[in-house]
Amino acid sequence: MNGSKSLEERIQIAHLGGGQNRIDDQHKKGKLTARERIHFLLDSGSFEEIGHLVTHRCTDFGMQDQIFYGDGVITGYGTIHGRLVYVYAQDFTVFGGSLSETHAEKIVKIMELAMNNGAPIIGLNDSGGARIQEGVVSLGGYADIFYKNVYASGVIPQISAIMGPCAGGAVYSPAMTDFTIMVEESSYMFVTGPNVVKTVTNETVTSEELGGALTHASKSGVTHFTAENDVECLRKIKIILSYLPQNCWEKPVDLPFTLGTEVVSSLNAIIPNNANQPYNMKDVVNGIVDENSFFEVQELFAENIIVGFARIAGMSVGIVGNQPMVLAGVLNTDASRKAARFVRTCDAFQIPLLVLVDVPGFLPGTDQEWNGIIIQGAKLLYAFSEATVPRITVITRKAYGGAYDVMNSKHIGADMNFAWPTAEIAVMGAKGAAEIIFKKDIAAAEDPEAVTIQKEQEYKIAFAHPFQAAQRGFIDEVIQPDKTRIKLIKAFSMLKNKKVQVPNRKHGNIPL
Ligand code: HXC
Repeated sequence: MNGSKSLEERIQIAHLGGGQNRIDDQHKKGKLTARERIHFLLDSGSFEEIGHLVTHRCTDFGMQDQIFYGDGVITGYGTIHGRLVYVYAQDFTVFGGSLSETHAEKIVKIMELAMNNGAPIIGLNDSGGARIQEGVVSLGGYADIFYKNVYASGVIPQISAIMGPCAGGAVYSPAMTDFTIMVEESSYMFVTGPNVVKTVTNETVTSEELGGALTHASKSGVTHFTAENDVECLRKIKIILSYLPQNCWEKPVDLPFTLGTEVVSSLNAIIPNNANQPYNMKDVVNGIVDENSFFEVQELFAENIIVGFARIAGMSVGIVGNQPMVLAGVLNTDASRKAARFVRTCDAFQIPLLVLVDVPGFLPGTDQEWNGIIIQGAKLLYAFSEATVPRITVITRKAYGGAYDVMNSKHIGADMNFAWPTAEIAVMGAKGAAEIIFKKDIAAAEDPEAVTIQKEQEYKIAFAHPFQAAQRGFIDEVIQPDKTRIKLIKAFSMLKNKKVQVPNRKHGNIPL
């Protein structure tokens, strides 16, 4: 390529990426090209490309003879549902999408524009990592991106789609963004790949097992979403953005809503008579929120807690709920950090929180203690306590022990706390409590079992209900389940202009 080419010719070449053969290879793998991805992601005709004539500066290893306009990444801006977004898409057809000095500069430029103009940045990742021919300048390029990721954190939504390889240090950019979404079977993320794993630990593992979409969705929690293919992935990005504001100073967009009676009688039949019997908290969620509006986040990870976005009377809300169907809804290390991260994301972007509580406590055991349930649980406690968005809690059944405090109790700053008549707010379950405080009576009894049952009943009458908490004002109202939706609509509307003064400090020190 040389200076004699016209602008039109250069643009045409830039649009071909690494050439038709490589585009065909990409399609054979079931992947779209970078340009096709941008086309599916943005509103039709809205894309404006920036820097498509940029080329690398490397002259080692014969690189001066291999010049591709755009240098393996397409950057620019456009709209999604009419709202401005910035986007970069790595082009695997050019040097495997590897990141050179100039490739990094293009990404950094678009990130700066996104931050300065208060709009989301979306990264479509498909890259062999640092451009090997460039050495340290490509490593520096990654670090420049990481640095910008941190500065943009909590200012504008940052979304990472992993649509091919993402390995080595490159994984740390998606890890620092708000949401990661991986395409099944065609993407993977790992710090060290299967070959290094084999050499160092003698484990034999495939790329898919080590760092594929389902691995990170269910085992590590690294990805928030998975998608069956590229198109599904791009569709999900649009859905995520629909619940988020453009930046931390704006509020999410409300959808039009007309108020009806909003009584949901199916909610009255959800809680089983037997307190040890599970039920699906997602039925509660779907009974409360606007029809088909619940969009679950990290669905396959730590399933004992549910997190996700929904709408209530058109308002975007973040939902955190214990799931009695899995581990009885107990809080463990994974559930605590999953929920803590989600709470902080919502708080950063002015999304009110609805917390649905049915929690028997923290999971006991050496595994939990040695994996830091103290620190992980503290994360959730800290995240709720520092959140200044409107926060509402509904206790549907159990709220036992420290988990009662942690799950957005009045004491840590919740604005409105409701309880269903089936709520049990106590230090622990009735049986355990009776066995401890009536230990001597039970031991001395002729029929210890009968005395245990009797004492259990006494404890239940005293504590297994929401009324003591309501008398103290820790619960604002005991409500019938079928009235939950209308109560929440009114309460969230009432809290719409909530403002809280926070201490003037550099930053808090959340236990990490
Ligand atoms: C330069 C690269 C490249 C790279 C791939 N290519 N990765 N060029 N730098 N990092 C080129 C290949 O030479 C090839 O060019 C073309 O891209 C397509 O690659 P293939 O190997 O043919 O594709 P495929 O078989 O699909 O394999 C993809 C791959 C593999 C798994 C990504 O290419 C690979 O292992 N690449 C190296 C990955 C790596 O080790 N990167 C550095 C990681 S460390 P031709 O011209 O032959 O078609 C890192 C540090 C980041 O990134 C630090 C941040 C702190």
